Amino acid sequence: MEKLSEKEKGLIRDSWESLGKNKVPHGIVMFTRLFELDPDLLALFSYNTNCGVAPECLSSPEFLDHVTKVMLVIDAAVSHLDDLHTLEDFLSNLGRQHQAVGVKTQSFACSLGPAYTAPLRQGWLNMYSSVVSAMTRDWAKNGEHKTN
Ligand code: HEM
Repeated sequence: MEKLSEKEKGLIRDSWESLGKNKVPHGIVMFTRLFELDPDLLALFSYNTNCGVAPECLSSPEFLDHVTKVMLVIDAAVSHLDDLHTLEDFLSNLGRQHQAVGVKTQSFACSLGPAYTAPLRQGWLNMYSSVVSAMTRDWAKNGEHKTN
């Protein structure tokens, strides 16, 4: 797991805190962007394969449910910045479930947006890459193929 500096931890905590109750709406923006970049990801959500990237689809209960789950995991990571390694096994299991539904490592790459200052951006990138590296820890063993 990447080592985060105390400064990065502070920036991450403050910016996450500043979202207040707007975490899920921010998550929706993030996933909307992700689906625009890679519409094939929509098909991985088996309940909604014919919907598309229209706003009414992306705010459907199923997508909202997933965005809420994602935000809870990020919230857990922000709460454990001092001991991120304690989440590793949970994240690795979560990652295996994603590999099984057909998510690819590169699907996890997404921009945090230009409004972030460089150090804040770097802090989030480091934390997010720790989360993704724990989620994909065991994928190489499966050759990145879909597993069940
Ligand atoms: C790359 C984009 C992603 C795709 C396409 C994706 C897709 C999915 C799908 C299809 C499911 C199963 C259906 C569901 O529960 O809604 C799922 C479950 C879940 N995802 Fe994602 N996901 C992505 C990224 C993430 C990220 C970054 C996180 C957290 C940091 C995350 C957290 C979760 C959680 C907590 C579940 C529920 C697992 C369970 O049922 O125990 N996902 N995801």
